[in-house]
Amino acid sequence: MPKKQPLSERMSQSASQLTDQVQSSQAWNSIFRPGSIFRKGYNDSPRNRSYVVMNSVLYHLHPVKVKRHAVKVSYTLCLGGLSFFLFILLTVTGIFLMFFYRPTAAQAWDDIYTLQTSVTFGLLVRNMHRWAAHLMVLSVFLHMARVFYHGAYKAPREFNWVIGVILLQLTLLLSFTGYLLPWDQLALWAVTVGTNMMGYTPVFGEQVRFVLLGGVEIGTDTLLRWYVLHVLMLPFVIVIFMAIHFWRVRKDGGISGPL
Ligand code: HEM
Repeated sequence: MPKKQPLSERMSQSASQLTDQVQSSQAWNSIFRPGSIFRKGYNDSPRNRSYVVMNSVLYHLHPVKVKRHAVKVSYTLCLGGLSFFLFILLTVTGIFLMFFYRPTAAQAWDDIYTLQTSVTFGLLVRNMHRWAAHLMVLSVFLHMARVFYHGAYKAPREFNWVIGVILLQLTLLLSFTGYLLPWDQLALWAVTVGTNMMGYTPVFGEQVRFVLLGGVEIGTDTLLRWYVLHVLMLPFVIVIFMAIHFWRVRKDGGISGPL
């Protein structure tokens, strides 16, 4: 009678068969692309190492090598990163607020009041959103000043400076459009003053004012317009410009530094 294999050996054999089957499947190989250590028959060759960088979105987004001074917190003060972090925080807290807010003249103020008084963590999240908005304006401005004082706007980074100026405008617009949404006296008068100023635009003043107000005077149509601008259009546009901004930092040879 042939000798029976020990149970532990049989188990390890079937485990390796199973691993083999899973690693050969189309689903597995569609997730783990060439160069991944999870692929069958992986070996640590220079070709596989470069595949890892080319095929992994995370390594692709963050450079594999960075200059020594670039990782010094005292060089950038992480102000660009902080601006981005605040944007993410604003997105997350903003989505929370959207669950409780309706952009109509009849409901907006009541919704904010209810959010603050009856919703769990409502006041906290609203204040996080408000403070993060103020801080983002500050951090973007300080980031711009840091870039200026390091002369990082000079070649080859001139184009990224221009993208940065657009990002600054978008940040200010996001902050201003959000100001109207609580629909309180402060918001109404701030927007009345703002849209009156825009009404003095040469040639098209009246039209600009009309488009921004959604009519001839401030009302529920204004609120809807500014709401859509605040929660959809401006965030969408700023994300596109941020992507170009980060991509340009990489393409311009990483963060600037001493020559
Ligand atoms: C939403 C706003 C912005 C975000 C999220 C952002 C983000 C970043 C990040 C993460 C970096 C990498 C280095 C660092 O952290 O300092 C960077 C670099 C840079 N940013 Fe911004 N930025 C913004 C606005 C601006 C503005 C307003 C300007 C200028 C008008 C600007 C111009 C630049 C330039 C020229 C660089 C390259 C700096 C270097 O090589 O030293 N950015 N930005």
